[in-house]
Amino acid sequence: MSEFSPHISPLHKRYRQDLAMPESWNETLDIILSHRSVRGYLPDALAPDVLPAIIAAASSAATSSNLQSWSVIAVEDPARKARLSAIAHNQKHVIDAPIFLVWLVDLNRSHKIAELHGEASEGLSYLETFLVGVVDATLAAQNAMIAAESFGLGSIFIGGMRNDPLAVAAELDLPPNVFALFGQCIGKPDPARPSDVKPRLPKEAVLFREQYGFDEKAMAAVQAYDARAREFQREQGMREQDWTRQISKRVNSEASLDGRHVMRQVLMQLGFGLK
Ligand SMILES: Cc1cc2nc3c(=O)[nH]c(=O)nc-3n(C[C@H](O)[C@H](O)[C@H](O)COP(=O)(O)O)c2cc1C
Repeated sequence: MSEFSPHISPLHKRYRQDLAMPESWNETLDIILSHRSVRGYLPDALAPDVLPAIIAAASSAATSSNLQSWSVIAVEDPARKARLSAIAHNQKHVIDAPIFLVWLVDLNRSHKIAELHGEASEGLSYLETFLVGVVDATLAAQNAMIAAESFGLGSIFIGGMRNDPLAVAAELDLPPNVFALFGQCIGKPDPARPSDVKPRLPKEAVLFREQYGFDEKAMAAVQAYDARAREFQREQGMREQDWTRQISKRVNSEASLDGRHVMRQVLMQLGFGLK
């Protein structure tokens, strides 16, 4: 079921179910379905033309009202990566990866553009506008992930930037109305620390037709996933635990947000109106 099973179809690897491959398939789907987060990197620098290609892919994502309300900071300085790693609760891959991207919700640029034209920028102080920035930055980052993987590189997103957004803002010299949404390691995967495709919920749990329908059948599909998640954990030498149990622990209290329950106040400190 892992690297050692080359004949398993991409669909089977993703869902660990016996599913017929659709007639229509292509190499783009092969790349998307073989995504796995990579936590072990070789120190090799990226070829110089790789980052521009990754950013061109990011810039090709759709963007709400063409606002393009994201930016990204490429961090290569080892000392800065080490400080960002510390903020992310010492995730070593942030240091080991040759490049660490920090994806930003960037409403500063729109503020400056409004100023340029002598306009007010009241529309930027609403929760809706912040959401637009989150959506835009996320779509851009996911395109960057796929682009990196298309080069045979490994990558992982790092939500740990939100452990201390004010410290990240100081480290990266962010102006008001800019928020480090998450980071992204990119580099050559260390073959000594292979990762594998992690199974996902079956479509019966996530795809509804015409109207929302999370019924008993969908819940049964969710529960059937527990065994597949356990199988993956076993293969990876991870501690075995039902996925449904992990999720219920992850949502059970304010404490389960691990200090991030203050995000609204922090965002307002960073200048966002969130009206
Ligand atoms: C926004 C975002 C933030 C994440 N932050 C972290 C992180 O800080 N550390 C980490 O090890 N994985 C992080 N991940 C990776 C997820 O744990 C991973 O995507 C998930 O377990 C599914 O595994 P896969 O990506 O290998 O399929 C993050 C993923 C996303 C989408």
